[in-house]
Amino acid sequence: MLDLGHNSYVRLMRPTWKDEEKVEEYTGRVGRLAARRAGESELVEALPETVSRVLDLGCGDGRLISLVLGARAEVAEAVGLDNSPPMLALARAAFSDDDRVTIDEHDLREALPTLGSFDLIVSGFAIHHLDHERKQTLLGEVVSALRPGGVFANLEVVQCGTPELQEEFYRRIGRPGGDPEDILAPIDLQLGWMRDAGLEQVDCNWRWRGFALLVGQVSDADLHAFPSA
Ligand SMILES: C[S@@+](CC[C@H](N)C(=O)[O-])C[C@H]1O[C@@H](n2cnc3c(N)ncnc32)[C@H](O)[C@@H]1O
Repeated sequence: MLDLGHNSYVRLMRPTWKDEEKVEEYTGRVGRLAARRAGESELVEALPETVSRVLDLGCGDGRLISLVLGARAEVAEAVGLDNSPPMLALARAAFSDDDRVTIDEHDLREALPTLGSFDLIVSGFAIHHLDHERKQTLLGEVVSALRPGGVFANLEVVQCGTPELQEEFYRRIGRPGGDPEDILAPIDLQLGWMRDAGLEQVDCNWRWRGFALLVGQVSDADLHAFPSA
């Protein structure tokens, strides 16, 4: 009988974000989800009026960076961080002709590297892979990396109200049984963490089942980052 070491066994049973198979399945599926596109539209609504520098935490193939570049043509620099080799390869290929974009390998379980300050920090369905303690320390680092008036917009997978609703959500997004890498937190808990980290104007701007857009802003009395109605 084939003798597999424990780690190989776990990888065979549960592909991770570092495996091409999981990345291909995700990138082929997620863009077709109407709910994802609705969440992205809400994210665009939450952007500051002007964005010079944007950081994407867990950028994957660069989908959110493309969204921001499409919505804010004045962006001078976009930085994407991820720790999945196949995702990094896709993102680098996507922006190979765009010298505004840098894609760096970084494990979000570690403190953010020094990258200067940003008008906007976004994240798409990534932070829920971190344990709750790291989620909270990361929020502190986000606040430190935002300019006065800067916005944090986290399009996230969140915990549903009951296990049955959670399973129904996973079924509807084409991932029955869920993702063993998910470490989900309820929305209210996350909004509290955002306020505790120093973000203001914190709210859940949009929700569909287990998808939510959580937004906050670093204070600047002289700036009005949110577009007026
Ligand atoms: C569901 S995908 C989302 C990708 C992309 N942000 C999007 O909106 O489609 C989750 C991403 O988080 C990344 N990720 C998970 N854990 C990470 C970690 N500890 N450090 C950096 N990236 C991580 C994965 O590699 C993957 O690209």
